[in-house]
Amino acid sequence: MTQRLGVNVDHVATLRQARKAHYPDPVTAAALAELAGAGQITIHLREDRRHIQDRDLRVLRETCQTQLNLEMAATQEMVKVAYEYKPDMATLVPERREELTTEGGLDVASQRDAITKIVKNLKDGEIVVSLFVDPDLDQVRACHKVNADRVELHTGRYCEGRNARERARELGRVVDAAKAAAKLGMGVAAGHGLNYENVGPVARIAEIDELNIGHAIVARAVLVGFERAVREMLDLMRP
Ligand code: PXP
Repeated sequence: MTQRLGVNVDHVATLRQARKAHYPDPVTAAALAELAGAGQITIHLREDRRHIQDRDLRVLRETCQTQLNLEMAATQEMVKVAYEYKPDMATLVPERREELTTEGGLDVASQRDAITKIVKNLKDGEIVVSLFVDPDLDQVRACHKVNADRVELHTGRYCEGRNARERARELGRVVDAAKAAAKLGMGVAAGHGLNYENVGPVARIAEIDELNIGHAIVARAVLVGFERAVREMLDLMRP
């Protein structure tokens, strides 16, 4: 089974916001990604609105033909936004203003009560809830305890491995976490730092049914076009 490819279009908005212009439009990029075979559009509406804007979420909610995954901080303010726009899925991520991108996974284990409440709020609104966590067994168990539907495993460490040995060790962690999550009945996604060189081994993990990829696809799209960039990634994900 080929995994679903969630294309993260945040960095199309990054380019637009660099000039505070109205182009390039992440909504157009999302449509092209879907035409090329993406199974999901992922956006992160950050508290500082540095790339994706509320308008993008509103328009994508109307135009997205596959499913819309909203990455969001685990706050009541963002729960309100999710209730207003009703994405198909919400992925809770940690968020710090000074970071360049989402740096680590959400620490679910140490904030179980607060996250349980937010997961319940979202699920009551019929939004599927995924938690973005490091590939760590305690975190995966904590995701189950707070009633998450899914986990998204952070592949950053695997992607940043300096040599084959480090990458193999980190990949092993992703495999173990994926198996544990699946055994607990949760759906399993993975993402962060995946690119055309390193996606293969993660795409072959049977328990993982979805990959969310942004920077590498948008970077290639600048040079070869969005549809081709998405198709080339899908080709690499095929078993
Ligand atoms: N998944 C999550 C939860 C993320 O926060 C990000 C980055 O926004 C991605 C996937 C995509 O990461 P990248 O842009 O490195 O492909």
